[in-house]
Amino acid sequence: MEPFRFHLFVCTQQKPEGVPSCPASGSFAVLDALDREAQARGLDNDLQLTTCGCMGLCDEGPVMVVYPAGVWYRRVQPSDVSEIVGTHLRDGKPVDRLVWNDASAMKAMSAEHRDKFRAAMAARDKAGTLPDRLDQMIRGYMPSRCILTALELDVFTAVGDGGDAEQIGTRIHANARAVGMLLNALVSLGLLSKSGDDYKNTPESARFFVQGSKDNQRNGLLHTANIWHRWSTLTDAVRTGTRVPTDLHSEDRDGATEWTRHFIAGMQRHAKDRAPLVVKTLGTAGVRRILDLGGGSGAYSIAFAKAGPDVQCEILDIPEVVPLTAEYVSQAGVSAQVTLRAGDMLQDDFGSGYDIIMLNAICHMFSEDQNRDIFRRARQALAPNGRLAVQDFILNPDKTGPQHAALFSLNMLVNTDAGASYSESEYTHWMKAAGFTEVSRIQLPGPSGLIVGMTK
Ligand SMILES: C[S@@+](CC[C@H](N)C(=O)[O-])C[C@H]1O[C@@H](n2cnc3c(N)ncnc32)[C@H](O)[C@@H]1O
Ligand code: FES
Repeated sequence: MEPFRFHLFVCTQQKPEGVPSCPASGSFAVLDALDREAQARGLDNDLQLTTCGCMGLCDEGPVMVVYPAGVWYRRVQPSDVSEIVGTHLRDGKPVDRLVWNDASAMKAMSAEHRDKFRAAMAARDKAGTLPDRLDQMIRGYMPSRCILTALELDVFTAVGDGGDAEQIGTRIHANARAVGMLLNALVSLGLLSKSGDDYKNTPESARFFVQGSKDNQRNGLLHTANIWHRWSTLTDAVRTGTRVPTDLHSEDRDGATEWTRHFIAGMQRHAKDRAPLVVKTLGTAGVRRILDLGGGSGAYSIAFAKAGPDVQCEILDIPEVVPLTAEYVSQAGVSAQVTLRAGDMLQDDFGSGYDIIMLNAICHMFSEDQNRDIFRRARQALAPNGRLAVQDFILNPDKTGPQHAALFSLNMLVNTDAGASYSESEYTHWMKAAGFTEVSRIQLPGPSGLIVGMTK
């Protein structure tokens, strides 16, 4: 028996610009429309909607196949979707005007495409051409830099309800010709739309990048823009083995306070979504006192305070950050449960009697010796049956993955004196050496992992 009444395959094979493909003919818009229409008609449980690779019929795209009957559609447009869903997927009658049932022509087209593709690959290989995959990876900085510059100049806010390059250039005090080039590139990336000479924000850009929008993430994303300048020093950092002197970098150019404000906003962007999950995993039963080392925006302490009215959290962070932490804690309305301490976790006495000590996104900033010392002092500061919770990007044993953790290690190379990503076995080893028992890794969704050790 089939698990679904219908299984849809929509081709979304990306190809180089200028080469005919289903995405170039609008297959992603078709996919979105199918999903929306199926939901609207209450057909979600009858359909499995999946994407697929090239079927060699690219000139006739977007191509879509509906199983179990094997009905092929070609040149499907979002405007056809309502009819396909209503007539075919609800009432069981294929939409004849879009059905493609000339099997021999399809087979011939597909075979011709396959043979041409193989010949082109062989010719490129013979000529020693760099594979597209590598080329794209190498040029990956272009879209990234384009968006970061737009964020730095607050272009999306300046676009507002619309305007031409000259008007937008005036609003951001920048050169109109260059602004026009940037705006066109943003249109090509799908972050703006253009009609005549006028540019507008897409719904996504208006939501996430424009000041005054509820979900505006620009402040946090400016941290990524700041980090860009650090990454430009990677070559020298690899040569010397540590970050290169700070006088070359953005915090000196822009001022430390701005840099730190964006840094903490960047941390909060991820932490606020993740914190409730971590709190649920660790639980609040029997938890009275928590020490949040390097608490930053306070997202984790805030989530604990909200989950348990009897929980008291103490955040230790550097003096420059604590006033920012205070703003987040006060906005969350939990100042009575979350206290703040300005200090240095590498030097200061932690205190005693805590039920949980948290190290969220902290250990990667420090060297092995510094982490071992923090773990040892945390062990002493915990009450019996207390827990040390370390959350970080955790590497596989051979340190080559997951990719995010491996790349993040370099982020620490360019940003810190001796930081890095570490593996589960390193964290486990350090915790056991510090006297923790029952050290275990708890699998959580998302890029970072959680390792917890207990005191007896
Ligand atoms: C990567 S952020 C993590 C923030 C927070 N734990 C989170 O997950 O969102 C690192 C935090 O550690 C703080 N920090 C760095 N060095 C510190 C030190 N020596 N003592 C105390 N806090 C420190 C930073 O100011 C920052 O708030
Ligand atoms: S790209 Fe869709 S069939 Fe080739």
